[in-house]
Amino acid sequence: MKTFDLIEKKKNGGELTEGELAFFVRGATSGEIPDYQLSAMLMAICLRGMTDGETAVLTREMANSGETMDLDSLGIGDGSCDKHSTGGVGDKTTLIVAPAAAACGVRVVKMSGRGLGATGGTADKLESIPGFSCSLTTGRFVSLVKENGVAVACQGDELAPADKRLYALRDVTATVDSIPLIASSVMCKKLASGAHSIVLDVKYGSGAFMKTADEAEALAHLMVKIGEAHGRRMSVTATDMNRPLGFAVGNILEVNEAVRVLRGEESGELFDLSVRLTAEMVRLALGKDGDSSEKAAREAILTGAAYEKFLTLVEAQGGDATPLKAGGYYLVPAAERYEFRAEKDGYFTSPDAGLTGKASVALGAGRAKKGDAVDPAAGILLHKKDGERVRAGEVTAEIFAPDKEKLRDGAELMKKAFAAVS
Ligand code: URA
Repeated sequence: MKTFDLIEKKKNGGELTEGELAFFVRGATSGEIPDYQLSAMLMAICLRGMTDGETAVLTREMANSGETMDLDSLGIGDGSCDKHSTGGVGDKTTLIVAPAAAACGVRVVKMSGRGLGATGGTADKLESIPGFSCSLTTGRFVSLVKENGVAVACQGDELAPADKRLYALRDVTATVDSIPLIASSVMCKKLASGAHSIVLDVKYGSGAFMKTADEAEALAHLMVKIGEAHGRRMSVTATDMNRPLGFAVGNILEVNEAVRVLRGEESGELFDLSVRLTAEMVRLALGKDGDSSEKAAREAILTGAAYEKFLTLVEAQGGDATPLKAGGYYLVPAAERYEFRAEKDGYFTSPDAGLTGKASVALGAGRAKKGDAVDPAAGILLHKKDGERVRAGEVTAEIFAPDKEKLRDGAELMKKAFAAVS
């Protein structure tokens, strides 16, 4: 078999066979297929698409390209659930949902990636807590899930290595926004990490890979089909990402906002979405009906049980919970800050999510390219809700950066983010 022939077949709109896809994934994993041929194939897939059958085979081969976890043999299969968002701006729901679902009795086996581009990763957010580490051995991960019902681990290099190589290439060849490539990339890692139930939140809008609700529906449908074909219980929600979720964008800022929700100090869309996703985890993993799952999810947050679990999670993974236990928040030790103020009396309009995400990267909160360091304190804090009354001169948003240059670049983009919606 020749890679050249497979690229040509896909370029001409052909359907790749199981054997051809297995050959492609093996070559990507071993390094035998060079970057330029992998990139050409990715572009051909991006432009020509894939049948659902091809996507299912690609996903299976990628899942099997490295280690796979059998949670049953590790003793944590029953009631296990993973949650994944396809990436949004200010999406810190996992920080709330993971402890909340664990407080309801779900075994939360959360595999997290590091953020890339405008969408932040849960691992980066949690690791902005001093001392917190998502680098867990399998043994440690399993014992934390057994003890506390929740652990958040970074995907190691052993899990779906084919996806690692392909994702890095997609990121620099403008081939990320392809439904079969996103579905296979997300689902291969979820299949390899073994949770019996999987709750997905597919985002659409200016701050997401999928720009429209229809595209998000198509992606959601495909991922459910792939998961169910592999015997997983699946739930998928499609949610709007044209405006940032909640008030904070940036690592420690988002942790502090999640703490506010967990302490019952913030209601609104972030609380509502967190309840909805937690309820789905409870429903799928514990087999409860919709109403009692929703009640359990809400109560877990409102009674403080989810917050207690969050503190346990933080300390179990090496994080310093002292400021929280003293009733405070984590410090935001940014060197530079800038305030946006209302020019006149009126109503606040929440900024465009896509441009806000770009601003957060410019400020240092996200990665422009793989391997970049993220600044835990950088980011954006909105002071007003969408549609809230503001008076001339009032602070509407603050931005934080490690140096003046990043602050200036981030401020320019935030101005555009506000202008785009006015
Ligand atoms: N998240 C992934 O893991 N892969 C994608 O392709 C997009 C989002």
